[in-house]
Amino acid sequence: MTPEDPDSLVRALAWAHPTWMLLSISAVVVALRHGLRLRRARLAGVRRAPELRRRHLIVARPAVVAILVGFALGPTSAVALRGFEPFDTFHGAVGVAVAALFASAAWLGQRIAHGRSRAQGLHALLGALGVLLSALAAVAGFVLLP
Ligand code: HEM
Ligand code: HEM
Repeated sequence: MTPEDPDSLVRALAWAHPTWMLLSISAVVVALRHGLRLRRARLAGVRRAPELRRRHLIVARPAVVAILVGFALGPTSAVALRGFEPFDTFHGAVGVAVAALFASAAWLGQRIAHGRSRAQGLHALLGALGVLLSALAAVAGFVLLP
C-alpha cells in the first residue's frame, strides 16, 4: 500500500468494521458461554459461583460496547469508503436487529446486576438471539467484503 495508491488504502480501511466485528462477536460468544453456565446452575437450584458471575460481567460489558461501536462503524464505512446508500443491505437490516438485541440484553443485565430485575430468562433470550443473529450478520456481511 503506497500513498500513490489511494484505492488500496480505502480497501484496507474498509476491512476495519468486519475485523472489529469478528473480534466483538467472539467476545459475546464467551459472555454467552459464561451466561449459560450461570443459567444451568440457576435452573438446577445450585449456588451460582460469584467468580463466574464476575467473569460474565467483565467480558459482557465491554463486548456489548464493542458491538455497538462496530455497529456505528458499519454504515460509516459503507457510506464513506464504499459509496453505499446507508442501511440499504440485508446485512444492515440484520445489523440493526443485532444492535437492538444486545442493547436490550445489556440494559436488562445492568438491572439484574443491581438487583432491580429478576428477568434472567428474558435477559438470556435477548443475549442468545443477539449471538444467533450476529452469526447471520457475519454470513450476510461476507458478500459485502471489499
Ligand atoms: C452489559 C452487559 C451484561 C450485563 C450487565 C449482564 C449481567 C448479567 C447478570 C447480573 C446475570 C445474572 C447472574 C446471576 O444470576 O448470578 C446474567 C445472566 C446471564 N447473562 Fe448476562 N449480562 C450482560 C450481557 C450478556 C450478554 C451479551 C449475553 C449473551 C450473549 C448474556 C447472557 C446471559 C445468560 C445466558 C445469563 C443466565 C440467565 C439465566 O440464569 O437464565 N449476558 N447476566
Ligand atoms: C464478521 C462479521 C461481519 C462482517 C464480515 C461484516 C461486513 C461488513 C461489510 C463488508 C460492510 C460494508 C462496509 C465495509 O466494507 O466496511 C458492512 C456494513 C455494515 N455492517 Fe457489518 N459485518 C459484520 C458484522 C456486523 C454486525 C454484527 C453488525 C451489527 C451489530 C453489523 C452492522 C453493519 C451495518 C449497519 C453496516 C452498514 C450496512 C448498510 O448501510 O447497509 N455488521 N459490514
